[in-house]
Amino acid sequence: AAEVRAAGVQERPLVVAHRGADAYAPENTLASIDKAAALGFRWVENDVQRTKDGELVVLHDDSLRRTTNVEEVFPGRSPWQVKDFTAAEIARLDAGSWFSPAYAGTRVPTLAQYMRRVEHNHEKLLLEVKNPELYPGIERQTLKLLGDEGWLDRRHLADRLIVQSFSADSVRTVHGLAPGVTTAFLGRPDPADLPRYAGFADLVNPSYGTLSADYVSRVHAVAGPHGRPMRVFAWTVDDAARARTVAGYGVDGIITDKPDVVREALNAA
Ligand code: G3P
Ligand code: CA
Repeated sequence: AAEVRAAGVQERPLVVAHRGADAYAPENTLASIDKAAALGFRWVENDVQRTKDGELVVLHDDSLRRTTNVEEVFPGRSPWQVKDFTAAEIARLDAGSWFSPAYAGTRVPTLAQYMRRVEHNHEKLLLEVKNPELYPGIERQTLKLLGDEGWLDRRHLADRLIVQSFSADSVRTVHGLAPGVTTAFLGRPDPADLPRYAGFADLVNPSYGTLSADYVSRVHAVAGPHGRPMRVFAWTVDDAARARTVAGYGVDGIITDKPDVVREALNAA
């Protein structure tokens, strides 16, 4: 299997390391994508938000509280929303100690820093525009940064970047601004509504618990905005039995905190 991956042949289903390999390193940090690369995984997922002074950063929650030491460094700034802190303030935070002392000093990466590391690691990115309602214009800004970093180059565009959101409006905006970018809607639209989503989303990415083989085949029967069958990535699947079940539904990708466990399960199936 290692040789197959090295040759660039796509795994089926594709295994995507959620927030990096976040069972093994602090989520959404450079350490987490380094870990995914070290385990042999090419696709990583992240969450993008914006600071008070307009910098794009990689963090999941709308608050800094759970995954940094912000309470200690900035007591009294409750509820510690990303949008209320400057990039310089966020750069002072420790985003690793909450996970393990071994990761003390790990920082919240800016999206620019993150993209450079993904590229350096030869990784591919499932980028989530997180909480877009809090950050007007974040889609255009994210695409501008991706373009500046060389990620919208047509030679690589189709095979190393997918932009997703729980907000259909946000996905539609991304597709409208950069029609060449592969896009995904996070959720499970009613099958009757799939043709509408197919106007702007190449994939629908549902929670695994809402899936069935029938639903996956209904998605595959619809052509997305680039004329190819729409695809399905399921999240967040962390145990072997569940991975085999959703793979049996015919999903195209599995988003997981434990990519090694999923790979093992699929290889054994
Ligand atoms: O990529 C799917 C998954 O990340 C969506 O949920 O809350 O982990 O961003 P969440
Ligand atoms: Ca996410």
